[in-house]
Amino acid sequence: MQLRNSETKYGAIAQLFHWVIVVLVVTQFVLAQRADSLPRGLALLQTLALHKSVGITIFALALLRLLWRWMNPVPPMPSSSPRWQQIASRISHIALYALLLLMPLFGWLMSSARNFPVSWFGIATLPDLIAPSEKAYEFFHEGHEPLAKVLFVLALVHIAAALKHHFIDRDDVLLRMLPWNRKGGAEH
Ligand code: HEM
Ligand code: HEM
Repeated sequence: MQLRNSETKYGAIAQLFHWVIVVLVVTQFVLAQRADSLPRGLALLQTLALHKSVGITIFALALLRLLWRWMNPVPPMPSSSPRWQQIASRISHIALYALLLLMPLFGWLMSSARNFPVSWFGIATLPDLIAPSEKAYEFFHEGHEPLAKVLFVLALVHIAAALKHHFIDRDDVLLRMLPWNRKGGAEH
């Protein structure tokens, strides 16, 4: 198993970051959906507390993932892809990273503005980022939902692009993000 990225393949660490974050983001949408259907009460508070803890975990993992990416360049796009697709891929990956950081930040700022300190799984309480303010609360509350919609749509486009690479272009762009694929992963 190769931990670092190679010229042709994502390494195990980059893959682990990718797939753990995918699972956590899906969890976030499920928890938010559940919170939406619950009446005010303990179950709602517990669901939102879990949503906040998982969201902060995504924030930390996204930062670590970017640090790892900076230390360990990712494999280049296949040169057979048209230039516009290479640019679109770059822009969409930047946007995905931005959303993985912005969504939790908006949530954290929303909670700080509401004067609800964010607890991470009951283990640690995070510092408030801003002073309580009704206006700021409204801004970050109103912003959290459209950001989630953009993330949702972008993730769908991203998945469609991965499937297109695999089934139409028949290159190994999807395979190189999959842990069980050994192709192209020669040890250096
Ligand atoms: C990548 C991370 C996150 C994702 C994908 C995400 C996604 C969502 C979604 C889809 C909703 C439902 C929006 C709606 O229909 O109103 C929501 C609501 C909410 N999120 Fe997040 N969230 C994330 C991180 C966080 C964090 C870190 C916090 C707080 C520390 C947070 C706090 C909240 C709260 C309090 C609500 C309920 C808002 C309301 O009163 O309607 N979220 N989130
Ligand atoms: C919440 C959902 C997802 C998010 C936020 C996400 C995010 C990302 C990001 C930020 C990258 C860029 C990695 C880098 O080069 O640093 C990436 C790459 C990739 N993702 Fe996802 N991803 C998601 C779901 C998926 C799914 C479901 C698939 C498979 C169908 C997938 C397949 C890929 C592939 C194949 C790459 C590598 C692309 C390349 O080599 O240029 N992703 N993803």
